[in-house]
Amino acid sequence: MFLSFAPMEGVTGAAFRRVHRRLFPEADRYYAPFLAPDAQGRCKQSHWRALLPEANPGLPLVPQILTNSASAFLAAARALAELGYAELNLNAGCPSGTVVSKRKGVGMLGDPASLDAFLDKVFQQLPCAVSVKTRLGLHSTAEFPALLEVYRRYPLAELIVHARDREGMYRSACDHAAFAASLEDAPWPVCYNGDVFSVSDLESLRAEFPNLGRVMLGRGAVRDPALFRELRGGAPLGREELCAFHDALLEELLAEGLPPVYAPARMKELWYYWTCLFPGADKQLKALKKSRDLPAYRSAASVIFTSADFDPFSLFLSS
Ligand SMILES: Cc1cc2nc3c(=O)[nH]c(=O)nc-3n(C[C@H](O)[C@H](O)[C@H](O)COP(=O)(O)O)c2cc1C
Repeated sequence: MFLSFAPMEGVTGAAFRRVHRRLFPEADRYYAPFLAPDAQGRCKQSHWRALLPEANPGLPLVPQILTNSASAFLAAARALAELGYAELNLNAGCPSGTVVSKRKGVGMLGDPASLDAFLDKVFQQLPCAVSVKTRLGLHSTAEFPALLEVYRRYPLAELIVHARDREGMYRSACDHAAFAASLEDAPWPVCYNGDVFSVSDLESLRAEFPNLGRVMLGRGAVRDPALFRELRGGAPLGREELCAFHDALLEELLAEGLPPVYAPARMKELWYYWTCLFPGADKQLKALKKSRDLPAYRSAASVIFTSADFDPFSLFLSS
């Protein structure tokens, strides 16, 4: 099974990817969080820096572009191809209100004819291979067959399907029945995405879709950075490993130039995913949440890693 790490804006940046690759090298590929180019293909300096080859040494990485303008996509694609990227990904799944209102991200799915026109222009002038990360629809997963008809017209490098519509955000049950249509006589590799958090989740998916060759993991792999190893039959996440990952990531972010004053807030974003690994540590987690400066944060994190109960099999997103 080909396993990739999903793009997660604000979480799986360059420092995260480097540290993850060093300590848990079992993912086949990483997708970078989206670049949002302007009409000339320019984008935020910090987003661009995170894609420079020197920021991602030895990492199998696919950059992602969020735009509904074919010319902006192509301009960004040319610049990325010059950096050496052979494959790029189109974001047709971001559900955020500000993105959708501009008919970008999952907003592109509301009008299959415009999506078709966009892909037609892009595929006429592409400097490299392109894959699409799509949802099943904007308002309903029943929109998916019409979208598939459009995707089937293009030689995509891969179709990654997050098995929800926009209304489902990140919470609704994934619609496996609607997803199944993407596998029927697929002219490109199909990658399933959505709620694969454990070995048993992957086993159920394999039983349901024996021909499925690719799976993308997002939140599950942030909660448990060893998930790729576990899905390949390896050992479960250890407490010391998670501590080592945490410490290395903090150091990497500081070395990358993150001002120490912002470091606690940045690291606390990860604790949204890790809290469930420490059941019964409410008091220590509260102290961590309250820590304002880096020394206080370090000491609160160290208490949790050294003394709180650790449960790598805890349920994630169960409440
Ligand atoms: C905080 C966060 C940031 C995300 N950023 C992106 C992004 O930049 N590009 C994208 O295509 N999807 C993004 N996603 C969606 C994930 O890539 C993935 O499709 C989604 O989390 C479902 O997979 P999972 O159930 O394995 O987490 C993001 C999701 C979250 C929770």
